[in-house]
Parts: sequence; structure tokens; C-alpha cells
Amino acid sequence: MTQLQDAHLLVVGATGGLGSAIAHRLVKEGVRVSLSGRDEQKLSRLATDLGAAVVSTAAADLTVPGGPSAVAAALPQDVGIDGVVYAAGVVAFGSVAELDDETLDEVLLLNLVAPVRLMRELFPRLEPGSTVVHVSAVVAERPMKGMAAYSASKAALTNFSAAAHAELRRHKIRVLDVRPPHTETGLASHPVAGAAPRLGPGLDPDDVAARIVAAIASDETELPAAAFD
Ligand SMILES: NC(=O)c1ccc[n+]([C@@H]2O[C@H](COP(=O)([O-])OP(=O)(O)OC[C@H]3O[C@@H](n4cnc5c(N)ncnc54)[C@H](OP(=O)(O)O)[C@@H]3O)[C@@H](O)[C@H]2O)c1
Repeated sequence: MTQLQDAHLLVVGATGGLGSAIAHRLVKEGVRVSLSGRDEQKLSRLATDLGAAVVSTAAADLTVPGGPSAVAAALPQDVGIDGVVYAAGVVAFGSVAELDDETLDEVLLLNLVAPVRLMRELFPRLEPGSTVVHVSAVVAERPMKGMAAYSASKAALTNFSAAAHAELRRHKIRVLDVRPPHTETGLASHPVAGAAPRLGPGLDPDDVAARIVAAIASDETELPAAAFD
């Protein structure tokens, strides 16, 4: 359990549909936030919206090897870190036969490798009682045809989170894997490859964010897709 009032959490992917909803929800609960995204203009607009609750911002491309360490290094040294929410990610659609190297690299680097690198960088600075949230997805439980690389990236992140949770528990650090179903953020409308199949209506990003923030403040160690019903 992480006490939210006056805690300081880093939100990565804060410029996205889910990340920004989570950042807003955290601030509503009294959390001070550091924000990271790729798009500097979106990041600065979000920081303006959130006002005095923002501790720092860092724009970075997380698919390059130095990206995650640059985000970690941008956090002020004199402020403790009580948690991280990793909500950056991309999706790709299309058959395995059509999957090109560039797409495969981008999906795996952003959805899997970057959160692993970021955790390694931030671990020495995480306070006891911290929570690290990894936003995986329902496809980690139910992989989908036409989304093989995305499904694999999320399943691998979920497994990494479970192993890291077992390892870091003795440091009083919790790794919380969350696996939301389809959510209306617009993610599926800007894939890095292919085009989305017909998807039914998704969840409201504010509801998903509220459920994730409630889990940070509780003792839950994972939020399977069914937890969002
Ligand atoms: N929406 C869903 O249906 C759904 C369901 C389950 C899980 N998820 C997961 O939730 C997470 C957030 O997705 P979302 O729906 O909020 O999508 P989104 O609105 O497209 O947000 C994606 C975020 O990832 C960032 N990003 C993309 N490429 C990046 C890069 N190379 N380096 C650094 N940051 C990069 C974007 O930054 P900029 O905007 O600044 O470029 C943005 O902040 C993803 O991991 C996604 O897989 C989504």
C-alpha cells in the first residue's frame, strides 16, 4: 500500500490517454507527480493543467537505449520517489507474415525493454512502501491473432512484473501489473503498423485510471482484466 497524500509518483506516458487520466486522478488524491512523455508540447500543456502538483517533467524517446535513464536522471535528487506508473506503449496490427523489423523493435522496445530499463535505473531511489505500476493489457491473458507482437510484449511485461515483485518485496517495493481491457483512449486509431479490427466500445479512461489509483492505495499486487468489470 502506498499512502497517496503528499506522495511523489513518476507517470511515464503521461501525455497518453490513460497516462494523463492517471496523472489527473493521482493529483486529485493529493499526489505530487513528475511527468514524462515523448511529445514536449503535450507534456507542457499537461503540466500547466496540473499546476503546482507537478514536481518535474522530462520528454524522452524511450525506444532509444538512453531514454529510460534520461527520464530517471531528470528527477530532482532532493525528492524521494514513492512510485512509478509506466503507461507508455504502442500497438501494432497485422499478420505475423507482415511484421517488419522496425515495427517489432518499436513494440518490444517501448512496451517491454523500456520499463525494464527504467526499473533498473529507479530501483536505488525508490522509497520503502513504493509501488511500481506496469500497464500491461488483457492480451497478456488472452493473446489475439493479428496482434501477436503486442500480445507477446504485454505477456512478457506481466511475467517480468511478477518476478520483479517477488524479488523486490524484501525492499518493501510492490510491482503492480495491471491488464486493462480495450479502453477509449485512441490507442487503436494510431497503431505503429496495420489497422485495428472492428472493436466494440471500450472502457472510459477515467474509470480505468480510478481503478488503477485505488489499487496503488491498496494491497493488490495485480489487476487482471476481470478487475475492470
Ligand atoms: N487503450 C487501450 O485499449 C489499452 C488497453 C490495455 C492496455 N493499454 C496500454 O496502456 C498504455 C497506454 O496506452 P494509451 O491507450 O493511453 O495510448 P496512447 O494514448 O496512445 O498513449 C501512449 C503513450 O505512449 C507514449 N509513447 C509512444 N511512443 C513513445 C516513445 N517512443 N517514447 C516515449 N513515449 C512514447 C506516448 O507519448 P506521446 O503522446 O508524447 O508521443 C503516450 O504518452 C499502453 O501501454 C497500452 O498498451 C491500452
